[in-house]
Amino acid sequence: MFRLGKAFIRKLGLDYVDLYLIHWPVRMKPGSSIFFTKGDLLPFDIRETWEAMEECSRLGLAKSIGVSNFSSKKLSQLLAHATIPPAVNQVELNAAWRQRKLRDFCNENGIKVSACSPLGANGAFWGSFAVMKSPILKDIAMAKEKSIAQIALRWIYQVGGIPIVKSFNKERMKENLEIFDWELSNEELDQIEQIPELKGESGEAFVTPEGPSYKSIEELWDGEISKIKLPPLGIHHCDKYES
Ligand SMILES: NC(=O)c1ccc[n+]([C@@H]2O[C@H](COP(=O)([O-])OP(=O)(O)OC[C@H]3O[C@@H](n4cnc5c(N)ncnc54)[C@H](OP(=O)(O)O)[C@@H]3O)[C@@H](O)[C@H]2O)c1
Repeated sequence: MFRLGKAFIRKLGLDYVDLYLIHWPVRMKPGSSIFFTKGDLLPFDIRETWEAMEECSRLGLAKSIGVSNFSSKKLSQLLAHATIPPAVNQVELNAAWRQRKLRDFCNENGIKVSACSPLGANGAFWGSFAVMKSPILKDIAMAKEKSIAQIALRWIYQVGGIPIVKSFNKERMKENLEIFDWELSNEELDQIEQIPELKGESGEAFVTPEGPSYKSIEELWDGEISKIKLPPLGIHHCDKYES
């Protein structure tokens, strides 16, 4: 992990990165790529991986270190032996996947929550239209003369998350930044709580029922998403599975 981090930073032509994250609580055989197969998966060792991240931090290769797609339980396990606590947990967080328990846990432990897929990743294979086609967000947007995207991003900001929205469109990039000089009322925040919850990315690719990695989606997320209707294994177009 440490050697990989060092090689990666050098490959970018940098001396250090501002923030270095463990993308998933997952370990793979050396040499595995983004086109990994389930045969490449190995059991994840939180302690060993985090020690390597801490080494990157101590050597100045990363100003801050953090994690991504970690449940509260995995964060607790990490915090139990960390000498440098994670600065950030980057997780799917949006108006239709509100992560109340995880947000509270991170807040209590000084971990910033970075919100990936803040608009529900509409158009991506891991995404859905649960945010961008939400009638509740549409009504609030019309009443406030804002766009649905702005309402969704402002909600994340107001609940303490850091939205990392992606757009290739210059106008939409500008629109997405215009969320700081107005706010959602308590009534509007309450309305957003009524949006049916839907998780887009299940992490099914990291599950192998026969091991040695996680044996189920519940195990990957430590049961923290078990009440949510997930798409059937192998199917990611979640707009068909709104709860
Ligand atoms: N840590 C992780 O495991 C993880 C997982 C998923 C994503 N991420 C990261 O999170 C970031 C964003 O997440 P994401 O790409 O999944 O989803 P997202 O930001 O929720 O959605 C991106 C989609 O929204 C559209 N969009 C952006 N602004 C808009 C606006 N104002 N109005 C209407 N549509 C708008 C984009 O289209 P246009 O480009 O056409 O505007 C694009 O199709 C990325 O940097 C990604 O790398 C991390």
